[in-house]
Amino acid sequence: MVAQRGSPWGLRCLFLCLAVQFALEAAAEYFKPFNVSYDHRALIIDGKRRMLVSAGIHYPRATPEMWPDLIAKSKEGGVDVIQTYAFWSGHEPVRGQYNFEGRYDIVKFANLVGASGLYLHLRIGPYVCAEWNFGGFPVWLRDIPGIEFRTNNALFKEEMQRFVKKMVDLMQEEELLSWQGGPIIMLQIENEYGNIEGQFGQKGKEYIKWAAEMALGLGAGVPWVMCKQVDAPGSIIDACNGYYCDGYKPNSYNKPTMWTEDWDGWYASWGGRLPHRPVEDLAFAVARFYQRGGSFQNYYMYFGGTNFGRTSGGPFYITSYDYDAPIDEYGLLSEPKWGHLKDLHAAIKLCEPALVAADSPNYIKLGPKQEAHVYRMNSHTEGLNITSYGSQISCSAFLANIDEHKAASVTFLGQKYNLPPWSVSILPDCRNVVYNTAKVGAQTSIKTVEFDLPLYSGISSQQQFITKNDDLFITKSWMTVKEPVGVWSENNFTVQGILEHLNVTKDQSDYLWHITRIFVSEDDISFWEKNNISAAVSIDSMRDVLRVFVNGQLTGSVIGHWVKVEQPVKFLKGYNDLVLLTQTVGLQNYGAFLEKDGAGFRGQIKLTGFKNGDIDFSKLLWTYQVGLKGEFLKIYTIEENEKASWAELSPDDDPSTFIWYKTYFDSPAGTDPVALDLGSMGKGQAWVNGHHIGRYWTLVAPEDGCPEICDYRGAYDSDKCSFNCGKPTQTLYHVPRSWLQSSSNLLVILEETGGNPFDISIKLRSAGVLCAQVSESHYPPVQKWFNPDSVDEKITVNDLTPEMHLQCQDGFTISSIEFASYGTPQGSCQKFSMGNCHATNSSSIVSKSCLGKNSCSVEISNISFGGDPCRGVVKTLAVEARCRSSSDVGLSQF
Ligand code: GAL
Repeated sequence: MVAQRGSPWGLRCLFLCLAVQFALEAAAEYFKPFNVSYDHRALIIDGKRRMLVSAGIHYPRATPEMWPDLIAKSKEGGVDVIQTYAFWSGHEPVRGQYNFEGRYDIVKFANLVGASGLYLHLRIGPYVCAEWNFGGFPVWLRDIPGIEFRTNNALFKEEMQRFVKKMVDLMQEEELLSWQGGPIIMLQIENEYGNIEGQFGQKGKEYIKWAAEMALGLGAGVPWVMCKQVDAPGSIIDACNGYYCDGYKPNSYNKPTMWTEDWDGWYASWGGRLPHRPVEDLAFAVARFYQRGGSFQNYYMYFGGTNFGRTSGGPFYITSYDYDAPIDEYGLLSEPKWGHLKDLHAAIKLCEPALVAADSPNYIKLGPKQEAHVYRMNSHTEGLNITSYGSQISCSAFLANIDEHKAASVTFLGQKYNLPPWSVSILPDCRNVVYNTAKVGAQTSIKTVEFDLPLYSGISSQQQFITKNDDLFITKSWMTVKEPVGVWSENNFTVQGILEHLNVTKDQSDYLWHITRIFVSEDDISFWEKNNISAAVSIDSMRDVLRVFVNGQLTGSVIGHWVKVEQPVKFLKGYNDLVLLTQTVGLQNYGAFLEKDGAGFRGQIKLTGFKNGDIDFSKLLWTYQVGLKGEFLKIYTIEENEKASWAELSPDDDPSTFIWYKTYFDSPAGTDPVALDLGSMGKGQAWVNGHHIGRYWTLVAPEDGCPEICDYRGAYDSDKCSFNCGKPTQTLYHVPRSWLQSSSNLLVILEETGGNPFDISIKLRSAGVLCAQVSESHYPPVQKWFNPDSVDEKITVNDLTPEMHLQCQDGFTISSIEFASYGTPQGSCQKFSMGNCHATNSSSIVSKSCLGKNSCSVEISNISFGGDPCRGVVKTLAVEARCRSSSDVGLSQF
């Protein structure tokens, strides 16, 4: 059961939802029960070695309504497995009180994976890292006296075991394990413990041994992995994580080579650039992995999604977890990444019979930096027995050119092959190249954001209309209410000295107010005037944000992770209210000793510059107040928002700090993903209909460090091809469709530093522009090649011609062909131009095949274009097309 892509959303949802319902209500047996084991070569599924491709999707980073489509797009992309972590902090927000609802309905997620015919790799952790708040640990865990995380500590082990057992038992109760007919083929315990094990000495070694035995003792009946754990004990498979994992050798000859995290992009931080990993390099890494004996590879992430609410880890990770993944944050295909990998997966599938048959490849050196690995059905047979398509594939080969600069011409089994730099060619029959990692045939898509939806303050939206030049437009309007600075409830308390931030907030909120009074004498004032100095708040170390208020006014902000603070402050004569607001922006998720990390202040904290010496803050009485009034009264919910005394906001009002705004908006029609554009705001949080969209922050990335041209060649690191320099790291925030109703959606914003809510808008995101550029010397579509599993198909190489494919997203059709040239077109997407050779009917041929359709393909041959426009020249077809929503975009109710 898979979502039908291409059908109108309404119908699709109806079928999908019904199908999902049936599938989930039926006994959850998606497969005939099967066993999973392994040998040195691969996982053995139901008695057969398998080459598996896996897609990382974290269920709480999407909504349950998005899951079926994400899983369907993964399957269509050619993956076999979905991989996810289990998120302890989401499942047990209060000790002993479990949550498996909504985005945390892991059973539903697993069922959907099974119902689609895919396998599931569940990484229970329960430490997960994942740029998730506190690495996935519930924050209450640090309050257990005497606990030490991820080491041989009885208190920690007890809690960890309880949660891991809970998850394994749940999976078994729900019949989700392979031997019960469920999709789960593999589990994971711990996560990259090898990175920090040394810091725990002997206790670390004892802990990992215990973790392995504990996991195996739960009787899950499927293999377990540990990633980045070279000493993974017993039958636990040690797996590789990284940008490249070819050549990885597990710690025992009996274990297969697995790649649990292939980082196909990277995460981003507030004020940072956005990472981009070119697909040519990613495909190269993947092909090299299977070439050199790998058998399981997972894209981390295939869909990254969104850190909704306060789930984002830290310090300072942004709300988007797009990750430059093949499926973007909004669930749209990211092209050409998705398409080029789909072709790669199809090529690898063609090789699977030979790959699993051979115990190990034959290595052939082809040049100084060129090599072949050959897999044969019967590796004991002397000489290579080559067969071609149309009969069983018995020999498959990968030819690699690892030279970062130069292409190479190599001879393999008597035939010549040209290998672009830093690329792998795949030959499923040891003769014909069906795929090269550096030659992208897939379409490129350019996402456009359009549509500016009006916002209105009142319940009666009709009153907001004004007719002007026959166009209807709406006055944007906002209501506002101030957040009190400092104490706002009876829940405050007063003690001497500075308390550790998390010990007080328990991470129920980002914010902790510290309130005191400072007496300033006439002498101090004249001392400052005479010396032209002021007092200063001086703190040895602080994280993540500090805001200093004097007499109710915000006078300074400091941002950083354990940074020194020297913040000048201006006092008046007499008593002054001094308020320090410490804030977290995602708790630490990586490293050892997380329980000791804490937040707020460390070291000496004082006021300097006074005539009679410094004032030590630890000697003063401080009143503490956790969180914001609006946050705790839940004025962002439909039910509670009227509890605040909202007043109309005028566009002439000055920007204000620590202030709430609310407005209403109607949903844009259609099914395109919706985003909130908060580029006009400062820092804060946003809610729609009570759903927490996440933190926002308009911090700008550095001006430099983004290369003009991203060269895929050579080893990738997360800075290599970054983009978005000089722009805010994030301005668009995903509002899942299922959180919206057709009209009067409540939008509530908490703004800390000042912004202009009148410029907030609602955007629709769609892949509006498609481009493709395929040459007549390109490979024919790999999906059409003979598939050894389907005996009926007898397509031979000669029957196939290269094709150009265009596909709009669901519900969209190709509305115009902006450029088409069969000949020698120049340039790249949105910058194509005609070359010397051009078939004059290019545009009409492409239009005829494509206009008005959701997808189309055109064969790249002289025949398709009615003759050869220039003899003896290799021709290319370049096309730029527009996609438009099949039902025109507009305001739903008008
Ligand atoms: C890995 C970790 C993942 C994730 C990744 C970076 O080291 O296992 O959970 O944090 O790094 O995105």
